[in-house]
Amino acid sequence: MAAPENFDGGLNTVLVVGEGNFSWTSAMLSCCTYKPKHLITTSYEDEASGPPSAAPHVAALTQISCVQVMRGVDATQIASIFVGQVFDRVVFNFPQHPDRRKINLHRTLISAFFSSAKHLITDGYICVTLLRGQGGTPADEPYKRSAGNTYDVTNLAAASGLILIGVEPCPYELLASHGYAPTGFRGQDRTFNGLKLALVHKFALAQPGTVRACYPSEGLHDVCFYLLDGLLPESESDALIRITETASKVCKAHGVEEVHIDKQPFDRFCDLDGRRSIGVHIFMRSWETPFSRQQSALLTERIRQALAHDSFDAHG
Ligand SMILES: C[S@@+](CC[C@H](N)C(=O)[O-])C[C@H]1O[C@@H](n2cnc3c(N)ncnc32)[C@H](O)[C@@H]1O
Repeated sequence: MAAPENFDGGLNTVLVVGEGNFSWTSAMLSCCTYKPKHLITTSYEDEASGPPSAAPHVAALTQISCVQVMRGVDATQIASIFVGQVFDRVVFNFPQHPDRRKINLHRTLISAFFSSAKHLITDGYICVTLLRGQGGTPADEPYKRSAGNTYDVTNLAAASGLILIGVEPCPYELLASHGYAPTGFRGQDRTFNGLKLALVHKFALAQPGTVRACYPSEGLHDVCFYLLDGLLPESESDALIRITETASKVCKAHGVEEVHIDKQPFDRFCDLDGRRSIGVHIFMRSWETPFSRQQSALLTERIRQALAHDSFDAHG
């Protein structure tokens, strides 16, 4: 998050959204040896509703020639606010919906932020800082939570064609020594716990062949197929080969590098009319083409459709 790796070195443009009291922007700039050429730092709240601790930071930041402070900026609308602009970094530290007890609203906020922010980067990246455990990635270890209790950031990012390229420890103590005092504890002008273990998640636009994820997108689906009479593959093993070939073809066409079908069906069934059915697990994985759970379900549906044309009847 802080200098030197992500912001130092004379970047051209940086956009910060969701500032609380603007102390992060001040601290980050004072850590940088080479400041960005242009930095726009924004808060959701306007001047009247923002935290009182913002005043000195805003006053100091407006004195810096490369800095522009804006208030009342909705992070979910930035593509239409900064039309045609491209940033080297778009930053959101500790995104949290004002209704802080509803995890689905935090997810909706982050998802809408991704879907707007993706229009403002080309080769740059989006940095999202989260408390350890919130992101829902393997980097949360040893503070991993159950999936339903996380923001599920890689899944949200994938839906916007964004890929997680790195997760780094947030240099909170360094920033705090330069005046960073996060706000937002129960929606108030107060700091919160767990900051020393926070993580910075870096997302880039997916560019297969160029950008590789630090954790792959993965999907596992159960599909049952009737093996149709007349058009029947000779045997169950032939059926499995054809399912594997078709799944690989469909996944490859969508940029998904790996697909695995178990060597044995997990289920076999024969109905009263003698129709035979098998159930298989389809597991897909990609390091280069991010996919959300919804997108992997869609891909599975495409595999089912392709096989239906190829003498199988998928069901279940
Ligand atoms: C936990 S606070 C973190 C504040 C600040 N980033 C920091 O590190 O101190 C969460 C922030 O998310 C902001 N936020 C909530 N919804 C937003 C939206 N739609 N657009 C921009 N910011 C939003 C809130 O205004 C609040 O300042």
